[in-house]
This record gives sequence, structure tokens and C-alpha cells, in this order.
Amino acid sequence: MKIGILGSGNMGRSLGTLWAEQGHDVFFGARTQEKGRQIAEQMGHNTQGGTNIEAAEFGDVLLYTIRGVNPAEVLSTTDVLNGKILIDCNNFEIPAEFAYEPITYSLAEILADQAPNAKIVKAFNTMAQEVFELSPQPLDQHNVSVFLAGDDATAKQTVAQLAQEIGFSPLDCGPLRQARLLENLGNFIRLMIIGQGMGSYATLSVQTLPSATQERLGGRQLSNLK
Ligand SMILES: NC(=O)c1ccc[n+]([C@@H]2O[C@H](COP(=O)([O-])OP(=O)(O)OC[C@H]3O[C@@H](n4cnc5c(N)ncnc54)[C@H](OP(=O)(O)O)[C@@H]3O)[C@@H](O)[C@H]2O)c1
Repeated sequence: MKIGILGSGNMGRSLGTLWAEQGHDVFFGARTQEKGRQIAEQMGHNTQGGTNIEAAEFGDVLLYTIRGVNPAEVLSTTDVLNGKILIDCNNFEIPAEFAYEPITYSLAEILADQAPNAKIVKAFNTMAQEVFELSPQPLDQHNVSVFLAGDDATAKQTVAQLAQEIGFSPLDCGPLRQARLLENLGNFIRLMIIGQGMGSYATLSVQTLPSATQERLGGRQLSNLK
């Protein structure tokens, strides 16, 4: 796959390198061509680097790591994103004292409004960069969920495959509006990691347990709640 990284900071550098290790063609984009090239040189694995515009032109799949900045500002035009898969890994800034308000309209939906012809997939916003250092082994032993939300089923499948290749357990959470939940979940894990001091290797996973052999509590009854 040809993958363009828009903004090659912690997330871009890490995911781009992991996908390059899996044999994908990766292009690191930055605000200056020089910086993008430097990152590619540093990360190796036949990666290339240059401007964000060059990265957007290069990739069929793009990772957007530039929090809250309209891609039209970064790329001059969003035409280059038309028809491409645009992975949104962003979370809002952490408010003072972790005084989060519930997210009612997600960064992913804002991105979709700004780039209406791109196929936006929310993913990778619920784990810290440090977790990528464990990829693909021993990460693949630990059932770490990558929650996916998006309106294009094929795009989500592609991102699920990219997540699986690097040791994660992808989980389809439905349409893009579910990114609201996923961004709230991103806030929750950051509260645990930083606010509650659990550290960057704390992660979120959905587990499926075996059914009880005997429902001694009477099993689930029809609810009387309105
Ligand atoms: N770090 C984590 O553990 C983590 C985990 C989950 C989700 N996230 C989310 O992922 C996103 C990226 O986080 P990060 O840690 O990778 O941040 P980062 O290291 O600061 O990288 C962000 C990149 O954005 C670029 N950028 C910033 N403002 C820009 C602008 N106006 N125009 C063009 N490029 C701009 C910078 O590019 P230049 O290099 O060209 O200056 C920088 O490389 C955030 O939304 C964050 O909440 C982070």
C-alpha cells in the first residue's frame, strides 16, 4: 500500500515506520521538505519524505496527525484528498485538570466536513505512542483494541488490516458519528495514563468472555425500565 503521513511527529513517525517495516511504501510529510526528508532518512526502511502536499499526493491511505488544523490550510486545497482513505488519530487538547466536557461533535466529523470527498476513518486515538514501541511483538499477544469508526466499509477494512499487521486487534464501532464515543474514550485513557498516573502502557481493549455455564443469577430478564 502507498501510505502518506501528514504531520510526522510522534504518531506519524511511529505508525509510518511500523507500516514501512511491514513492507508498505511510506512517505513522511512535514511543513518543510527538508524536515520530511530528514525523518525518512532517520527512520529508514526505504521511506521517503518531503512536504505534506507531496505526502498527500503519494498515498492512497493517509494518516492525518495535525490536530484541529483544516487540511485546506495544510495542503492549500483538499482536492488531493478526494477518494483517499484519511485516518484521523487526533484527540482534543487535554483541558486543565482533566476537566473534560463530553464531546458532542468529533474532530473526525469536523475533518469529514472539511474534506468531504475523503473517506475518513477514526482510529489509533486510544493508545499512547509508547505502545507502538511494542509492535508487532509482543503487542500481538495482548489484545489491544484499535477502535474504528467510519462511513465507508471498505476503507474501514483497509485500516483494520493495517492495524492488525502491526499487532493490534481492530474493532469496527460503526459509522463516523461513533468517533464522538471514541474521542471520549481517548480522553478517558489519557485521564488514566496521565491524570491517574497509570503510565503510557495502560491501554483499552474490549474482551469477549465465555458464556456462564450456569445462570445462577436468573439470567437477563425483560427490563421494566422506560
Ligand atoms: N502522542 C500520543 O501518544 C498520541 C496518542 C493518541 C493520539 N494522539 C493524537 O495524535 C495527534 C498527533 O499527536 P503527536 O503526538 O504525533 O503530535 P506531534 O508530535 O506534535 O506531531 C504533530 C505534527 O503536526 C504538525 N503540525 C502542527 N501544526 C501544524 C500546522 N499548522 N500545519 C502543518 N503541520 C502542523 C507538526 O509538524 P512539523 O513537524 O512539520 O512541525 C508535528 O509534526 C494529536 O491530535 C494527539 O492528540 C497522540
